[in-house]
Amino acid sequence: MSYLLGVDIGTSGTKTVLFTPDGTVVASCTEEYPLYQPQNGYAEQNPEDWWQAVVKTIQTVICRSGVSNGDIKGIGLSGQMHGLVMLDKKGEVIRPAILWCDSRTGKECEEITGLIGAQRLIELTANPALAGFTAGKILWVRKHEPENYDKCAHILLPKDYIRFRLTGEFATEVSDASGMQLLDVPHRCWSEEVLQKLEISPDLLGKVYESPEVTGTVTKQAAELTGLKEGTIVVGGAGDNAAAAVGTGVVEDGKAFTTIGTSGVVYTHTSSLSIDPKGRVHTFCCAVPGQWHVMGVTQAAGLSLKWFRDQFCTSEKETAQLMGVDPYYLMDQEAKRVPIGSNKLLYLPYLMGERTPHLNPNARGVFFGLSAIHTKADCIRAVMEGVTFSQRDCMEVIKEMGAKFDEMLACGGGGSSPLWREMLADVYGIPVKTLASKEGPALGVAILAGVGAGIYPDVVSACREIVKSDQITEPTEEHRKAYEKYYQLYREIYPQLVKQYDQLNEL
Ligand code: XUL
Repeated sequence: MSYLLGVDIGTSGTKTVLFTPDGTVVASCTEEYPLYQPQNGYAEQNPEDWWQAVVKTIQTVICRSGVSNGDIKGIGLSGQMHGLVMLDKKGEVIRPAILWCDSRTGKECEEITGLIGAQRLIELTANPALAGFTAGKILWVRKHEPENYDKCAHILLPKDYIRFRLTGEFATEVSDASGMQLLDVPHRCWSEEVLQKLEISPDLLGKVYESPEVTGTVTKQAAELTGLKEGTIVVGGAGDNAAAAVGTGVVEDGKAFTTIGTSGVVYTHTSSLSIDPKGRVHTFCCAVPGQWHVMGVTQAAGLSLKWFRDQFCTSEKETAQLMGVDPYYLMDQEAKRVPIGSNKLLYLPYLMGERTPHLNPNARGVFFGLSAIHTKADCIRAVMEGVTFSQRDCMEVIKEMGAKFDEMLACGGGGSSPLWREMLADVYGIPVKTLASKEGPALGVAILAGVGAGIYPDVVSACREIVKSDQITEPTEEHRKAYEKYYQLYREIYPQLVKQYDQLNEL
């Protein structure tokens, strides 16, 4: 029997899943780790925490499944994108990783735009300079921590650090590398021009592969630690969204998904290069060799609800524990009792700055319309609605670029909430589907591993074979109309606050 292993190094934790080649889950394990916010707008993690979580989850999955490690034919890695991991000559981590949701690099982004030119930057990297992307983080370390920069011999993305620990190879693949702002996205290779203008040595960067290609094999040392077999292949894998696309079968034109995870994403596949000249959505290489995807990102989607849960929902957490359910289930039940519009309360989900459509690291969250009548349930619903409106903003930009959306797949933690799916269907005005498998990114990279191992001929045919849809939530016309009024008002709030956000940042 053959098995495939998918490892997803997310922001809240690492999830490792063992699959049979038809996509059935054999065993799964998740291990969480902390996110450090030493200052407002900062977000860091310890790469060693990721590695320990990877070791533990792989060990557990092998043990739980009882499979022989020799039957695991390939490993795929997925993970949070954009994070900066710096290693010294010996391969030791120099400083905590600076993550995708860290917004300290506003000034560095201006510098990058000045050095390369706004238009040229979009031509080369398919995106404007964005605070979440890796290049600004590299410049920030060079400016603020020159002693760390001088020690740096290797720059890696989060999942590629795990590749290094598993295989000893310094490598990445096109989908994740697209989010570094150093890749020539149209040509799928490092951009000499960008590296030269930013004075970043290409020697710091790993070799770039296509997602299903084999990038190395498990070393003896990693095998001893994890229980994997030495020599097992590790394929390129993909950034979490490109990986989720494979796991949800969004690998052909006309297909799209919405994820509500820590961040929120509206993602569509494109077999030909398509770039927003205003840079409001990202164009990245996808995991299908030679093709791309376009996506809009809400920085704090699930993160908004998690923030609300952790700050204000202690009683829900306690009750949930007694009932043996998830606190989000109880929060869903509370929000369901509140009418559309949350009793005239709107929420702007910009807790970590915002990318689509505002591209503003200084933006911050807002409750608008708070009154003494409002209850916690109103606030929970307003948070969910605000995140949904922000996803709609993403969709509107992608539509402007010519994409058509007839239906939408919903995934991520938020996609498993029936209420959130209903909101998405009503706010988008199209049917929202779920899939039989909820393992998006982990399944996606396991499929890529299967292509690398020769089990499937290619990514698209593997997805057609494996990915099966499940429930459909249809929009309700009356609800759509009710949400539309709130959405239009939501859109008017941000433009009134742009100057004040900058002032707040300067205080
Ligand atoms: C995508 C992005 C997030 C992270 C974290 O550009 O920043 O989706 O990958 O999940």
